[in-house]
Amino acid sequence: MSIIYTPEKKLFTLHTAGSTWQMKVGRYGHLLHTYYGKRVEDMDLSCLIREMNRGFCGVPYEAGEERGYSLDTLPQEYPTFGVGDYRTACLHAIHEDGSQAAELRYVSHRIYDGRYQLPGLPSVRASGTEAQTLEILLRDKSSELEVVLYYGVLEQADVITRACRIQNRGKTPVRLLRALSCCVDLPDGNMDLISFHGRHAMERNVQRTRIPHGRLSVGSTRGTSSHQSNPFVILCDPDAGEEWGNCYGMTFVYSGNFLAEAETDQTDQTRIVMGIHPDGFCWTLEEGEAFVTPEVILTFRPDGLGPLSRTLHDLYREHLIPRRFLEKRRPILLNNWEVTEFDFTEEKLLSLAESASGLGIELFVMDDGWFGERNHDRSGLGDWTVNHAKLPSGLHGFSEKLRNIGMKFGIWIEPEMVNEDSALFRAHPDWCLQIPGRSPNLERCQLVLDLSRQDVREHLFARISEVLDESQASYVKWDMNRNLSDVWSAALPASRQGEVSHRYVLGLYELMERLTGTYPDILWEGCSGGGGRFDAGIFCYMPQIWCSDNTDAVERIRIQYGTSFGYPICAVGAHVSADVNQQTGRRVPLETRAEVAMAGTFGYEMDVQKLDASEQEQVRRQIQNYIRFEHIIRLGDYYRLTSPDTDETLAAWQFVAKDLTESLVSIVALHPKANPPFRRIRLRGLKEYAVYRIDGEDQIWKGSALMYAGLPVPLLWGDYQSCHFYIRRL
Ligand code: DGJ
Repeated sequence: MSIIYTPEKKLFTLHTAGSTWQMKVGRYGHLLHTYYGKRVEDMDLSCLIREMNRGFCGVPYEAGEERGYSLDTLPQEYPTFGVGDYRTACLHAIHEDGSQAAELRYVSHRIYDGRYQLPGLPSVRASGTEAQTLEILLRDKSSELEVVLYYGVLEQADVITRACRIQNRGKTPVRLLRALSCCVDLPDGNMDLISFHGRHAMERNVQRTRIPHGRLSVGSTRGTSSHQSNPFVILCDPDAGEEWGNCYGMTFVYSGNFLAEAETDQTDQTRIVMGIHPDGFCWTLEEGEAFVTPEVILTFRPDGLGPLSRTLHDLYREHLIPRRFLEKRRPILLNNWEVTEFDFTEEKLLSLAESASGLGIELFVMDDGWFGERNHDRSGLGDWTVNHAKLPSGLHGFSEKLRNIGMKFGIWIEPEMVNEDSALFRAHPDWCLQIPGRSPNLERCQLVLDLSRQDVREHLFARISEVLDESQASYVKWDMNRNLSDVWSAALPASRQGEVSHRYVLGLYELMERLTGTYPDILWEGCSGGGGRFDAGIFCYMPQIWCSDNTDAVERIRIQYGTSFGYPICAVGAHVSADVNQQTGRRVPLETRAEVAMAGTFGYEMDVQKLDASEQEQVRRQIQNYIRFEHIIRLGDYYRLTSPDTDETLAAWQFVAKDLTESLVSIVALHPKANPPFRRIRLRGLKEYAVYRIDGEDQIWKGSALMYAGLPVPLLWGDYQSCHFYIRRL
């Protein structure tokens, strides 16, 4: 049993393989948090909740003289605004009389096998034997606002998921100004928050900050999860590292606005809340209506950031990314974007594809520019009909020609957008998000289609289906190249405009569900100007996301390093691009560009026709290598061996097959030095007593020697040289 209820104590205990979450109904009915951390057996930990009159900390009316029973200091499961807890809250409701309060008390609960349902929202997938659910019903007596807290326990996967359903059982409308998904109250202060910030073409840089007194928040109000911030954070001990320390991961299964807000309170306890960002959010619940929040995945590891990441990587593979994609190797692709941008013809693409096919590349992806009047980024978006001037054979004819030369066909789409200069915009100007009487903010000359509207979604489904049927595509890249602004829908009344951003995301999920469900054999890749929507929500539909528009291998080391904390390597879109790199002007050897792209889905985005004979030979070898190793990369465990924040000379990472019989270690020299110190790299994750051999070498190694003594790093001469070691158990 992973969920235990002890009625005499009104105590709920949730166990995963390595963690315990516990809570208790307090003596006045509030749901109090007692513990979250390393697994603890058979113990009522409510002794950890201590009460003391702290002064200027009010108490619920019935508590009267019990001045230590203050919501302002007690650890809680779902704190609310307006009733004496001044810390960051999960729920902020306004009632018809203008009052802003909700005090939630326990009513009942339900425990069952399997998972709770979040209609319209992506969430973790698990069978009745893999998961148990606890639902706790709380009610605000005065307003009859009800909250059902959902706890999903995936014992073996070692995670707990949370979400909630807020329902208006009263007679008058309630407006929700804040409806977050979860709160974690921990008794200790002095904790770090690790978050992932960035910008276009430089996503997911690691930032580590001590949680201050006062609030520390990261989030997005851009309508997407964003390049600038990522809906995944880690709370950890101040000295936690790759292999030690208590670490708590929080992943938001959502692709729109989000907030993760942490604070150290007046008595040095830590609180963190996560959910839809309240800025611009206002959701009206009429009598009987309910609002369901997106899900948060909670992961705890007592032994460091590396194990935390690997627990999450396994979770994505087993319970988030549709399984059908993980069972087989994905094709090695060539994408034409960095080669041609909009400037291509069928002839040009076919000749590129032919050369690629000769090198062993298996899939040709035609990126932006194939439709409507799309000869630059100022026109054509929204017009999903082929541009015959560029592709005289049409989609069907062109893809047929590709198949005839042994290549699969992949296509780029950006369904959510429209250029003002397009037939779609001219026909339906009211279909995009913009505010009457205001000139909308433009990004890349495009506007956002109002996906909260059913008619818009129907149109997109029909048009994109035609494209897929006609082209027989076996891969689709779903791009999204701007943030939301001027968020206003012509289809909703004034009182509902605060709902548009979330309704947009719900509409997006409905469209993704429908398209990926109708075309399950297509390999779907998410994208938003690179990694602007790299989140668990998208991964519930698509097995990979283009990680960044920055294809400079050296920059990618940092981006992929940050990404690996919360996301599996098999989902990281990574390509070998041209020399000189288009984003930075840097020159990196072809071998190293491939080494870095191998820590991802692996493909090319360069004019392979320009390669000389020896480079062509290198590419053939890279492809053979990738095919040889990809099962370890797709299915194995990933270890960060160095950090770009602390090691300026080397970057190293390692994959280990689950059965510990094979391992692949990649090393890149970041900064060659004169007369350099010798370096060795201590490997991880091998079997201590097993005997291993490094491919191409005679020496036999014990696993313990590779892990504790370490592997001598060869002297890498010249800029950004690299090498890898394939290690096999004898
Ligand atoms: C942004 C993507 O990240 C690029 O790879 C490319 O597809 C362009 N959009 C095309 O407009």
